[in-house]
Amino acid sequence: METLLKTFVPLLLVSCSAVTSYPSVSPHIARVTDRFRSPERQFQSFIRRYNRDYRTAEEYAHRLGVFTRNLARAAENQMLDPTAKHGITPFFDLSEEEFERSYLGLAVQDKEGMLGAEMRTAEEVDVRGLPASFDWREKGAVTDVKMQGVCGSCWAFSTTGAVEGAHFIATGKLLNLSEQQLVDCDHTCDAVAKEDCNNGCGGGLMTNAYNYLMKSGGLEEEKTYPYTGKQGECKFDKDKIAVRVANFTKIPFDEKQIAANLVMRGPLAMGLNAAFMQTYIGGVSCPLICPKIFINHGVLLVGYGAKGFSILRLGYQPYWIVKNSWGKHWGEDGYYKLCRGHKMCGMNTMVSAVSTTWEG
Ligand SMILES: *[C@@H]1O[C@H](CO)[C@@H](O)[C@H](O)[C@H]1NC(C)=O
Ligand SMILES: *[C@@H]1O[C@H](CO)[C@@H](O)[C@H](O)[C@H]1NC(C)=O
Repeated sequence: METLLKTFVPLLLVSCSAVTSYPSVSPHIARVTDRFRSPERQFQSFIRRYNRDYRTAEEYAHRLGVFTRNLARAAENQMLDPTAKHGITPFFDLSEEEFERSYLGLAVQDKEGMLGAEMRTAEEVDVRGLPASFDWREKGAVTDVKMQGVCGSCWAFSTTGAVEGAHFIATGKLLNLSEQQLVDCDHTCDAVAKEDCNNGCGGGLMTNAYNYLMKSGGLEEEKTYPYTGKQGECKFDKDKIAVRVANFTKIPFDEKQIAANLVMRGPLAMGLNAAFMQTYIGGVSCPLICPKIFINHGVLLVGYGAKGFSILRLGYQPYWIVKNSWGKHWGEDGYYKLCRGHKMCGMNTMVSAVSTTWEG
């Protein structure tokens, strides 16, 4: 894991969630003492923890201002979302707008229901007898948490996550698949919402990406087409295809259907509104209000639990387990827990599954 960071991070300075380097210290430990200190003292420990280097006094002062406003936002998010913990994350020197621009990247214009309108929705499946909790990580279907960097490529990570899972289910083999191939080569547009096109670090959609993969022939592995976090020239090589996509389907909006499809088909690509994620540290996020439209982030649904622990009495929420692409130092080792059964943050509106055929 340390080697992963050392080799991986320098490449990533520029994409959908970029932090340039990481400490080995857990942010949770530092946080307890932090809240009794002045914003500037907290900012200084943030700088040390995340190895920030602001070039000028003006930049320092500006980032301190942003950081201080984020402390207020975290406190506000904490009040609105009492079953999760909100606090200082690696993204605390970015304004909300900068964060959205740099670390999200789902190219959805605001038109609910229209997206992928030509696509087939999966048939309803029997939801009886589902396990009380389920986690694809335990079955070996999920690769390590990755890092999109300062690049709006979340859609590519969501896509590879779903394809990695489907390939594992088809073959029993787990591969790291290439986000960079999608970032560089996929410019597919939605058949109905024609201005929703995949555009590298500028955003994209998972369903467009499946269409691209079906047309192009398939997806390379990370090791033959590694991540750089910058959009570049397409270097896709058909001879290096590792996985082919056979088809894909939308999943119905009902959360029980989503759970059943997750168990049946593997990890699912999912879109949500990331409003509470910039300040998220852990616990089950269940905000009192979270927009159900304005889906702006692509992630991977990998499991669900029956009762998420929370020190607050409001706690004990059934939750979803969501793999993010902001590195392991964000959230719960890179994961987000979102409460289940409330269509929270629109998580039920853009879920999809993919099937693969194995190359070889
Ligand atoms: C995926 O890549 C990471 C980082 O290089 C590595 O640690 C991990 O073992 C790989 N996983 C698989 C299944 O190849
Ligand atoms: C999708 O692809 C899988 C794997 O090849 C296949 O088993 C399934 O029947 C296909 N579904 C449809 C609707 O074509």
